[in-house]
Amino acid sequence: MNVQNYRKLIVNKLNQDFKSAVELVEIPIPKPADNELLIKNKFSGINGGFDTLICRGDVPYISLIPPFDLGVEAVGKVIAMGENVKDFQIGDAVITTARGGGYREYQVINANLVVKVREATPELLTLMPTGVSALVALEQVGEMKSNEVVLVTAAAGGTGHIAVQLAKLAGNHVIGTCSSEAKAKLLKELGCDRIINYRAENLNQVLKQEYPNGINLIFDCVGKTVFDTCVENLAVRGRLVVVGFISEYANNVEQITQPRLYHQLFWKAASVRGFLMPHYKEYMAEARDRLLNLFYTDKLKVAVDPTRFQGIESIPDAVEYLLSGQNCGKVVVRF
Ligand SMILES: NC(=O)c1ccc[n+]([C@@H]2O[C@H](COP(=O)([O-])OP(=O)(O)OC[C@H]3O[C@@H](n4cnc5c(N)ncnc54)[C@H](OP(=O)(O)O)[C@@H]3O)[C@@H](O)[C@H]2O)c1
Repeated sequence: MNVQNYRKLIVNKLNQDFKSAVELVEIPIPKPADNELLIKNKFSGINGGFDTLICRGDVPYISLIPPFDLGVEAVGKVIAMGENVKDFQIGDAVITTARGGGYREYQVINANLVVKVREATPELLTLMPTGVSALVALEQVGEMKSNEVVLVTAAAGGTGHIAVQLAKLAGNHVIGTCSSEAKAKLLKELGCDRIINYRAENLNQVLKQEYPNGINLIFDCVGKTVFDTCVENLAVRGRLVVVGFISEYANNVEQITQPRLYHQLFWKAASVRGFLMPHYKEYMAEARDRLLNLFYTDKLKVAVDPTRFQGIESIPDAVEYLLSGQNCGKVVVRF
């Protein structure tokens, strides 16, 4: 590759799965204009669910016409600056979360959108925007309190493992679901009170037997029958936050027929609420600063999945890996 050039992943044509939709292109490294920074990305966070939906054109709040850029969060170093940039220096470690800024080796971005960090490490990718989403979803949508029972599904994943700890820090009893012993071990280390490996135990049975009064707050990342079980086990005045429905992303949307949802909600005065980070932008900066502080003061442990994805060409495999459900912690790619 020409050293004046860099590579990025783009979507040239919408397609059902990420691998078929993306293309690797090589283009010249741009010069930063006024108020802009040129950043060399070192690590990027993988959001396999969102990535797949965006490649299909199934993200209703953004209508992107190909070709468009991919990836969101990246950690890197400032290597050049435009005129009028204040507060940054060449060599600064930074994190960015602009859509399109992740799956590329270099990015030019307005300095106002860049956050300075102590070191350019992959661990930071668990906090922004993943951890921020967990925090805002629990507090703003789930109205998280203390001394309640909180259930987190996909609890050992990138989003889930932060949600588990935030619910614990708020003083709740936390149940986490996962699919392997390695994930159960991580959840134990994070202080999860009841770990349900759904391959070894039946989620519905455990909830019914051990939590007869139901669950007060549910953070559901999985969807489908897990969502159904969650609704069934909500407590009186329980809140279920739909954070995602990853079990459906790799397939077509499932059509089901059953009594309307209000039959299950009404008699318990329970509620199901959707969460989408872009609709809660005003909470992002405070949530980000709080999470960074928790991380830097060792009150929040972060997990990066140990599987190594090296280079921009490994991103399609990393997306596939995340969708296979094997990951423990946040999936990241290294450049
Ligand atoms: N609403 C928002 O703004 C927002 C923001 C960030 C993330 N999210 C959502 O949060 C969820 C988690 O995202 P993430 O990027 O942090 O992923 P992740 O949790 O790191 O990885 C996905 C996990 O989902 C679990 N899973 C359960 N059933 C699955 C199935 N049928 N297929 C694949 N995986 C399955 C797997 O763990 P187990 O098998 O151990 O359960 C897997 O490790 C996704 O639904 C995502 O869309 C939403």
